[in-house]
Amino acid sequence: MQKGLFITFEGADGCGKTTQINLLKDYLENKGYSVLLTREPGGKGLGEKIREILLNYDGIVADRCESFLFLADRAQNIEVIIKPAIEKGQIVLCDRHTDSSVAYQGYGRRLDIEQIKTLNNLATGGMQPDLTLVFDIDVETSMKRVGNEKDRMESSGKEFFNRVRNGYLELAKNEPNRMKVVDSTVSIDEIHQEVIKIIKQYL
Ligand code: TYD
Repeated sequence: MQKGLFITFEGADGCGKTTQINLLKDYLENKGYSVLLTREPGGKGLGEKIREILLNYDGIVADRCESFLFLADRAQNIEVIIKPAIEKGQIVLCDRHTDSSVAYQGYGRRLDIEQIKTLNNLATGGMQPDLTLVFDIDVETSMKRVGNEKDRMESSGKEFFNRVRNGYLELAKNEPNRMKVVDSTVSIDEIHQEVIKIIKQYL
């Protein structure tokens, strides 16, 4: 059987990637592909419990503790959900993955970027996405979309999200083969068409 495809969706909160991941899932399924949708944090089972802590715990969470929780969730997701699906020949669409740790904990929280990359490698066993789509939008617009009901991560402030956005753009500049930046200021359908254009090169 042919090996599957591993595609990750990245971008700052409110960039619209979750809408796009669902549109792409429908598109691929209509074309007859078998698709598995997952997310980080919180694919399912143990991951959901880690997600609950990460987004809703209202006490102090040290930055390095936060990093390890995201990484623990990732190690579980890759082993239990992603790898088996890829081996079955499915297309895996993952809402956030390793680049979120680099953008949020590295650039956003200002932890050491090379160390985060090394820890990512440990969590994934070295497995990398075949393609990563980075949905890019200015922070004012994305924060408006998030609205007033913010979770723990979304309450990190405008400066934090500026660093996250610039982090993603820098990562994409350094890895242009794997990472494609998608302008997310245009309409939902225009973004979807752009995503399809990119995806077609990988099918
Ligand atoms: P979620 O509700 O899934 O947000 P979104 O719909 O924007 O993906 O919450 C995930 C939050 O966790 C989001 O603020 C990004 C953050 N995050 C990190 O800081 N590091 C990580 O490694 C991951 C996977 C997510």
